[in-house]
Parts: sequence; C-alpha cells; structure tokens
Amino acid sequence: MIILGIETSCDETAIAILKDGKEILSNKISSQIEIHKEYGGVVPEIASRHHIKNIAAILEEALEEAKITMNEVDYIAVTYAPGLIGALLVGVSFAKGLSYGYNIPIIPVHHIRAHIYANFIEHEVKLPCIALVVSGGHTNIIHMDKEHNFINMGGTIDDAVGESYDKIARVLGIGYPGGPVIDKMYYNGDKEFLKITEPKVSEYDFSFSGIKTSVINFVNKSKMKNEIFKHEDLAASFQGKVVDILVKKALKAAKDKNVKNIIIAGGVAANSLLRSELKEKGNMVGMEVSFPSLKYCTDNAAMICIAGYFKLKNQGDKCLAPLNLNGIATLDIMLDK
Ligand code: KG4
Ligand code: ZN
Repeated sequence: MIILGIETSCDETAIAILKDGKEILSNKISSQIEIHKEYGGVVPEIASRHHIKNIAAILEEALEEAKITMNEVDYIAVTYAPGLIGALLVGVSFAKGLSYGYNIPIIPVHHIRAHIYANFIEHEVKLPCIALVVSGGHTNIIHMDKEHNFINMGGTIDDAVGESYDKIARVLGIGYPGGPVIDKMYYNGDKEFLKITEPKVSEYDFSFSGIKTSVINFVNKSKMKNEIFKHEDLAASFQGKVVDILVKKALKAAKDKNVKNIIIAGGVAANSLLRSELKEKGNMVGMEVSFPSLKYCTDNAAMICIAGYFKLKNQGDKCLAPLNLNGIATLDIMLDK
C-alpha cells in the first residue's frame, strides 16, 4: 500500500512516500528558512507563494526517488490543520487536484498528531504513552492510551515553547529559527547567569510568555545601560529553565497516569538538552523515553504519511475526505488549534 504525504502548514514544502506503513521510499523537503531569515520569522504570504512555486517540483522529485508513478499511489495524506491558512490551502488544493486527476482518496491529517506519529517511523512505540508536544505553535502533554486516541492533559496558556525560542533569538539578533542556535550556545554559557522564576500554572499546563519577557527585558535594560553581557549566558539560562520545566511536567504526567513510556514530538524535540535530560531522568525512574531522529522532528511529510496510515488503520474508509457531486474531494482547511 502506497501513501503519498503532503505538508505545507508553515514554511516547509514537503512530500514523502510511504510503503506498507513501514518503509519511507522518499522524503523531500524544500525549506524556506533562508527566505524568512531576513524577517526574523515566517511571513505567511511569502510562505504561501513559495509553496505554490515549489510543490509540483517536489512531487516530481519524491516520485523519482521512490521510483513510482502517481498511478501506483493508493492514498494521499495531507495536512488540513493547524497552520497558516494560505500555506495549508496550497497543500490541500494540490492534494484535491491530484485526487481528482488520478482518482485517489484523501486522508486528512492533523499536523500535531503527525508530529506524535513521527515517533512511530523508526520505533515500535509502546502504548499507553505520554507525548510531550513541543513545536513552534504548540506545547501540550498528550496521553495516548491506545492507537489513535489522543487525550489532551494540558498545554500552554500563552506562547508555545518554540515561539519563545524564536522571539528571544530575534531580540538577540542571532538568526531564525532560534531553537538550533540557542541549543548550541547553551553549552558555552552559564545557566545560573539570569535567575528566571518558574511560572505558576496548573500541573500539566505551561506558560512561556513571562519567561520570554524576563529575558527580553534583560536584553533591553542592558542595551539602555550600555552593559555588555555574554549572549551564551542568557541562552543557557533560558534553555536551562525551559527544559527543566518540560522534563518535570512530562515525568509528572507519566507518573500520574502510571505510564512507562514517554515520547517527544515537534520541532523542539530536536533540542539536544531536552532529549538527554528527559531520557536520563526518565530512565532513572524506570521510564522509557524515545524521540524521532532529527530529520523527523521538524516539519516533514514522512510524518504526514505515517499519521495517515494509522488513521486509516484505526478508522477505515470513514476517515477519507468525502466526494462532492462532481467527484471532487471535499476537504476544508480548519483553523482549529
Ligand atoms: O514542528 P516545527 O518544525 O514547526 C511547527 O509545527 O511549529 O517546529 C519549529 C520550531 C521552531 O520554533 C524552532 O526554533 C524549534 O522548532 N527548534 C528547536 C530546535 N530545532 C528546532 N528548538 C529548540 N532546540 C532545537 N534544537
Ligand atoms: Zn510542525
């Protein structure tokens, strides 16, 4: 069974091909990071235009690498939510066109569930598990008690963790996306440099806005007073505190649910400190901790394929986008979180 996956929810135009729910035949990504870098973040209109420009070529590359034609594709899995509306629209419209032209059914895929399923590409994930979702737009603790059942235990009440990484990096003028840069700087800084208070929110919720503001205020005050500080020290203080909070809450959720497996999902799952700390602290209390390899942490279409595979496996044909009277798949992009 061949699933073609399409992802265009933010600034990556990605297409992948999955065989029999196991083998990734191709995983093509055209990243727009270099384009958005000069603005310090993703500009939605520019992102949509680049998706339109690139998507057909990415499809050709993906098919070529997988050595298949569109006629061999059984299902098209496409991200319908959440994301930038114009960007999602490009992927969904492209999927609808392919679906109509080649008579292939569409499996609508939720981007965050796909991040969770990225863990299933390389590992046999044991269920039940706790998924710590950490991306540019989301921060949640999800209890996955069985296949394709996601129970939200809590989430951020303001900024997402990746978003605060990116904003701090912008204020420090160290590039976009901020996560990978701050992650590297951490190891050359003193995490005790700036005392950051932990926000008071309920046990499985998060708040990063106050942490972000205290870091940005420090930068602005130092500028006003002409005081020089080591950027690495600030990066270390920020990352140290954030990872500490994420690890503590994920472990608490797993303990409370009596779950022995924890997975990390989303772009911030690429963070080296989060990976090592959660693994070490989790293992110490008898929990198994796993995360996708780096190429499957940030946005990609292999995770869209595998999420489509599990959705179909668990829900059957009823998960497919219905056809209208003209035989065109009806699939709306959704603005839900
Ligand atoms: O999942 P993703 O690719 O896009 C969304 O769905 O939002 O996540 C992107 C986020 C960005 O905020 C980026 O700064 C962050 O993931 N990120 C990292 C690292 N690599 C990417 N954050 C911390 N450490 C990293 N190594
Ligand atoms: Zn994502």
